[in-house]
Amino acid sequence: MDLGLRDQNILLTGGSGMLGAAAARLLAAEGARLALLGRDASRLEPLATELRTLGAPSVAIVQGDLAQAASTDAAVEQAAAALGPLDGLVAAAGAAQGGLFWEIDDAAWQRHLEAKLFGTIRVLRAVAPRMVARRAGRIVLIVGNSAKYPEPRMIPGAVANSALLAIVRGLAEELGPHGVVINALNPGPVRSSRWDAQMRAIAEREGGTAAEAESRFLAKAALRRIATPEEVAAHVAFLASPRAAHMTGTSVTIDGGTVKTP
Ligand SMILES: NC(=O)c1ccc[n+]([C@@H]2O[C@H](COP(=O)([O-])OP(=O)(O)OC[C@H]3O[C@@H](n4cnc5c(N)ncnc54)[C@H](OP(=O)(O)O)[C@@H]3O)[C@@H](O)[C@H]2O)c1
Repeated sequence: MDLGLRDQNILLTGGSGMLGAAAARLLAAEGARLALLGRDASRLEPLATELRTLGAPSVAIVQGDLAQAASTDAAVEQAAAALGPLDGLVAAAGAAQGGLFWEIDDAAWQRHLEAKLFGTIRVLRAVAPRMVARRAGRIVLIVGNSAKYPEPRMIPGAVANSALLAIVRGLAEELGPHGVVINALNPGPVRSSRWDAQMRAIAEREGGTAAEAESRFLAKAALRRIATPEEVAAHVAFLASPRAAHMTGTSVTIDGGTVKTP
């Protein structure tokens, strides 16, 4: 199936991260024109070079810090100047750390929420009116299944994620009459060095090996395995494509069957 992404102008945040980079690779392979928004342009250069070889007709890097509204606004403006009007936004920036709830102080909570929740709010605020003015656009937020399945040591991330799902549902109503759609993707954990470190930390805390800690976790997932970044990227590409034009205000969970609610 042709997703219809060729020459679509897509702004992507989090391109220097694992899931953002995987999504960018697939979007590039599908022929999308991309603007990569990140705090440090030098961290995005290698990816931009790779995306050009994968087939992206245009790749721009825009420097922006989602922790600051003015910087975010300027980066979105720069992306639109480089690509032309934005057809899509993929928000893959932000990751929260965990910890024991009563040991996470106010400053840590603010840090946790700043990157993901407020960063996403800022980029939405900058992009949405542009799409409304053109009466077209598709927005994909990478959220996380912790919105519906909060792990006790990852509560700040879960709070950010459930707030983002509320934004998706509410904003869909606002954007829908203008032809703009917004959806969330809720991955469970994805294979990475960070995941491996998390399993080692759990093993240290609870006893046993990292592999045993992972098995205990995977026993909760119907598929008994965690996702690859490419599996998550496939869903991002679909939701960012014109093929998903009649879908809005919802979330797609890709967690191997961990969250059991329909
Ligand atoms: N990995 C998973 O297992 C998993 C599962 C479910 C949901 N998620 C969610 O998916 C998203 C991506 O996850 P990931 O694993 O790819 O994370 P990651 O590898 O840690 O990447 C995070 C990205 O966010 C960017 N970022 C952070 N703060 C920023 C800011 N102030 N301004 C601009 N960019 C900022 C980072 O850019 P810099 O290069 O500037 O640091 C980086 O590109 C996160 O929101 C995460 O919560 C991940």
